[in-house]
Amino acid sequence: MTGPRVLVAYGSRNGSTAEIAQAIAARLRTRGLATDLLPAGSVCDIGHYDAVVVGSCVYMLRWHPDVVAFLHAHERALATRDVWLFQSGPLDDLAETRDRPLSVPIQQIADRIRIREHVIFGGRLADGAAGALESLFSLGGLAGDHREWPRILAWTDGVAAQVAQRRAVLVLVPA
Ligand SMILES: Cc1cc2nc3c(=O)[nH]c(=O)nc-3n(C[C@H](O)[C@H](O)[C@H](O)COP(=O)(O)O)c2cc1C
Repeated sequence: MTGPRVLVAYGSRNGSTAEIAQAIAARLRTRGLATDLLPAGSVCDIGHYDAVVVGSCVYMLRWHPDVVAFLHAHERALATRDVWLFQSGPLDDLAETRDRPLSVPIQQIADRIRIREHVIFGGRLADGAAGALESLFSLGGLAGDHREWPRILAWTDGVAAQVAQRRAVLVLVPA
């Protein structure tokens, strides 16, 4: 029996969610898990993954369209796998403490998939990011990097431990 395989799929408009996804994938690899990292829009088949981590940026309360499409397209396969969701959302340092529910459509699909966990990480708006809304937010003083790397890595370690543990159970008690 080979080791567990993990997919990290993400949607990112301005690159910061992609960097979080890269850090998560790299950490999972250092924890011994064979991990692929792909933009959600370029995933064709999740059949050979045991676990999937799905991450999205959030703009005006909406998840990246490629991530929403990915969740819908692979809903049945995701429902039979361990799935974790993360979002790179708020532009403040309160991602961990403030209660921010998922938007209704994402919550509905998360319930159907029966995800393991949803986590919110602070996001980043770079000064000078392209786009009219980005400029508006930047002018409003919202530019900054609120990604908490130690928290992201600690969360990833928890995911890695759960993937490895579940695999150990499957090896000990074959279905
Ligand atoms: C125009 C605009 C709208 C945003 N709307 C939200 C939002 O509704 N909820 C949220 O948590 N973050 C919001 N953000 C913050 C982004 O999600 C954050 O910058 C994120 O890290 C961007 O990821 P990306 O670089 O991968 O595109 C918004 C940012 C901008 C510029």
